[in-house]
Amino acid sequence: MLKGKLRFVEVGPRDGLQNEARLVPLAAKARFVEALAETGVGEVEAGAFVSPNAVPQMADSEKVFGLIMRKRGVLFSALVPNERGLERALAVKADKVSVFTAASDTFNRRNINASVKDSLTRLAPVVARARAAGLPVRGYVSTAFHCPFEGPISPETAAGVCRDLLALGVDELSVGDTIGRASPRDVRALLSILMKEVPAEKVFMHFHDTYGMAVANALTAWGEFGISGFDSSAGGLGGCPYAPGATGNVATEDLAFAFEAEGGMTGLDLAKVRAAALALEPLLGHRLSSKLCRIPSGRDVA
Ligand code: HMG
Ligand code: MG
Repeated sequence: MLKGKLRFVEVGPRDGLQNEARLVPLAAKARFVEALAETGVGEVEAGAFVSPNAVPQMADSEKVFGLIMRKRGVLFSALVPNERGLERALAVKADKVSVFTAASDTFNRRNINASVKDSLTRLAPVVARARAAGLPVRGYVSTAFHCPFEGPISPETAAGVCRDLLALGVDELSVGDTIGRASPRDVRALLSILMKEVPAEKVFMHFHDTYGMAVANALTAWGEFGISGFDSSAGGLGGCPYAPGATGNVATEDLAFAFEAEGGMTGLDLAKVRAAALALEPLLGHRLSSKLCRIPSGRDVA
């Protein structure tokens, strides 16, 4: 169960920076993406082709893709909400696209102005076109455990949306604890259902860390269900502007440290992840939440 390499998707440049009050200058964003690509990670979510009115922090995603030096063996992916977003992603030659919906209607309406059902209808041609263009497609399911407006979400409901996204043809799922409210018990409840129908290699877990449960949740998904794919954000940046009260994604370096301590292989250079995050910190106007970033410099972080 615990064998094999863990697969990390670094979402800091997208999920992280979309929620920062200060706009990070373009050159610093591009440097951040490039630094993350050097950490040993297989994928960096480098931007989002969403409405610039909805998320101004992502308005320069074309420019980010235009500026970065690509690294062989690393996928540079982008979030897309609709066909227009896909066209923008194709124009900059993103290596992979991620569509997104949620397990709760209220959150989905606030986030993308559509019910879950309507969003799936909207996403069907996006997934089909992306696949026809030869791009791998990820499907995010937000609020898979808790909705900031509706409260707890039943595992059957969340599993149903996962099923619907797979039926559209996505290659993998990212199951999101958008507000970081889940506990290992919630993870068990959902994965007990999901793992009966979906191969573990198609599932990534996307834990935000609002209540400090993300590492415990990830270890549960890995140790008890054989999930090896995880999203994380260098420094613990992140959050969704449409999920009030939610804080950042689990910090890449903290999650990788926990896995390595438990005998897992992440292939990540934790000192490089930490350095990438710390280089950004002065531009954000606040301290990063990551534990490893707070270890005094000069101490061994790995
Ligand atoms: P809408 O208002 O229903 O759509 O928004 P619309 O088609 O009527 O367009 C509204 C405006 O957006 C128009 O501009 C369009 O041109 C423009 P206006 O005429 O008003 O000036 N527009 C676009 N512009 C650029 N690129 C596009 C695009 N599409 C429309 N692709 C829409 C619907 C989905 C577009 C909007 O609500 C939106 O962009 N929402 C994005 C919200 C978002 O990015 N949220 C954060 C990411 S999700 C997340 O963080 C969760 C995740 O991390 C997992 C987890 O933690 O759970 C993934
Ligand atoms: Mg998120």
